[in-house]
Amino acid sequence: MQTIHLDLKGKDKTSDVLCGEGVFEREFPRLVRSYAQSFILTDSNVKRLYGDKLSALAPDVPVYAMPAGEENKQPSTLVDILRAMVKEGMHRNGCLFAVGGGVVGDIGGLAAALYMRGISCVQVPTTLLAQVDSSVGGKTAVDLDDVKNVVGAFRQPEIVLADPMFFATLPPREIRCGLGEIVKHGALNAHIFDELWENRNRLTDLHFLSRIVPENIRHKADVVQQDEQETGLRKSLNLGHTTAHALELCEKKRSHGEYVLIGTIVEAELAKRHLECDGEYLDRLEELALLALGGMPKGLPAAEAAHFAQLDKKNKTNDTVVVTAPVRKGGYALLSLPYAEYEKELREICAQSGF
Ligand SMILES: NC(=O)c1ccc[n+]([C@@H]2O[C@H](COP(=O)([O-])OP(=O)(O)OC[C@H]3O[C@@H](n4cnc5c(N)ncnc54)[C@H](O)[C@@H]3O)[C@@H](O)[C@H]2O)c1
Ligand SMILES: [Zn+2]
Repeated sequence: MQTIHLDLKGKDKTSDVLCGEGVFEREFPRLVRSYAQSFILTDSNVKRLYGDKLSALAPDVPVYAMPAGEENKQPSTLVDILRAMVKEGMHRNGCLFAVGGGVVGDIGGLAAALYMRGISCVQVPTTLLAQVDSSVGGKTAVDLDDVKNVVGAFRQPEIVLADPMFFATLPPREIRCGLGEIVKHGALNAHIFDELWENRNRLTDLHFLSRIVPENIRHKADVVQQDEQETGLRKSLNLGHTTAHALELCEKKRSHGEYVLIGTIVEAELAKRHLECDGEYLDRLEELALLALGGMPKGLPAAEAAHFAQLDKKNKTNDTVVVTAPVRKGGYALLSLPYAEYEKELREICAQSGF
């Protein structure tokens, strides 16, 4: 087991991430017993797969299963969860255990932040994406209609239990989704890049993924520790995401992680055109992203998607598009392009890459 300790600057708040095979079975019952009252939030899929395990490890603890899926990460579901907590008579010294993917983690974290002005929260991420990304850092939110993550709060969990045992039931699409963020971390961290490059022929191998999860969590934790509220360094985690979000908003056909991989390729090409960079390294990064994608994406709506990049909240004005571009191993740069130029180059890059 590895323990990653988050110590947030200027706050009397620490958070531990415990990771490794067996962590869930070992730590979950002990943690549940350590609170006066516990409440387990999960979703319908995770309950179907792990419901028996949950009741065996935490008998008599109420389990509330929200309907699975991003479309349910809405205020109405949040209110249903809060209502269930009231019904169970949860007190302010209780703890909400969010057992599921990023959707359960985000909405559960927000429910814990709101209930009686804040109760404790433990995150048990069950997807690859939730382990390497969403469960670490304390961002919680729900969507409001079509606007993603617009209602939320910063709230650090007491503890995160990241156990690779959960990966065994993940469909390939969810593995690729998590790989998107792992390759992004590789673009920001030389050590992770080297590991990924050396193992590029087994990127979806569960043993390999289990081994690299802790380094990915450590990378995200390091960034969050230095910039919890996203005023500087945390923006690096947006690498590949300006283009990813634009494509995702435009066509919604692939998983978020697949769009991040495509966005990383496009933004590496933008770096080659506009920034001083290491071209040979960027070629390798692009090859890695393509391997993680498992094939060449075809028919991307480049011309229509550019418009959505204008809506990105990271842009200061409507006339510029800001991307966090990879430039050299472990290095990135913020690149600000006039909208018309971004639009033209996105089309050119997609055509030239065969997307
Ligand atoms: N808070 C943050 O910093 C942050 C960062 C990145 C993403 N997010 C959010 O995370 C969400 C995406 O997370 P996600 O990709 O985990 O999606 P998700 O929670 O919808 O999970 C994906 C699917 O996998 C199922 N599932 C979960 N665990 C499983 C398991 N072990 N075996 C089989 N199926 C399982 C779920 O029921 C769901 O159908 C988005 O809402 C996104 O906004 C938040
Ligand atoms: Zn992402």
